[in-house]
Amino acid sequence: MTAISALRRTASHALDFWYNTDTAGKIELPGIHGADQIYYIASPWRSLRRALSPADVTSSDVFLDVGCGKGRMVLEAVSSYRFRRCVGVELVPEIYRHAVRNIHNAQRRHRRIRGRVELINQDIRTFAVPDDVSVVFAFNPFRGPVWTAAIDSLIASHDRSPRRIRLVYVNPEEHRELVATGRFRVERELPGTTVYELR
Ligand SMILES: C[S@@+](CC[C@H](N)C(=O)[O-])C[C@H]1O[C@@H](n2cnc3c(N)ncnc32)[C@H](O)[C@@H]1O
Repeated sequence: MTAISALRRTASHALDFWYNTDTAGKIELPGIHGADQIYYIASPWRSLRRALSPADVTSSDVFLDVGCGKGRMVLEAVSSYRFRRCVGVELVPEIYRHAVRNIHNAQRRHRRIRGRVELINQDIRTFAVPDDVSVVFAFNPFRGPVWTAAIDSLIASHDRSPRRIRLVYVNPEEHRELVATGRFRVERELPGTTVYELR
């Protein structure tokens, strides 16, 4: 391990300690999407903050993390922004339960983290994106048909209720697929992250 990665790991554990959460670690999830290798690993802390300034979010905005894992970015969303509510959808029951515990522990320790959080244990393929969601976060959670189902649900929601939707996509492996829909415009590119606007 290099000195920089050791420092990062220490800082990451320090934030878990500060929030009273456990979001670190890697969990292999063999076979949940056939041949596509999927695993749980949290986004680096501040992945959302790097891509989206709190000044660009209002109290009408609603946040959604597709494949929210142990809830690290839901926590970042509820603690750093004025979102009306923050939603996380997670397939794996054990990981979902971690997320519930993490948000509960963080809100208990830090009374200022008061925003409304909704965690849902569901397969994204059957999840209808609510028509008030306006910021979507994805840390390369799934690929192929599962990703397509999630994006189709997002587009369907936009068609039912046209509004500005921003997608913060970390490690955007399905970039081509997104652009091929003709609905997503690249708003901003950062190292390892692309922010799209759906229209
Ligand atoms: C790379 S982790 C990202 C975790 C979190 N978004 C973050 O940034 O810290 C991807 C998560 O997506 C979840 N996932 C995979 N397939 C899913 C599906 N079909 N529906 C909902 N969640 C899924 C996995 O269980 C895993 O926890």
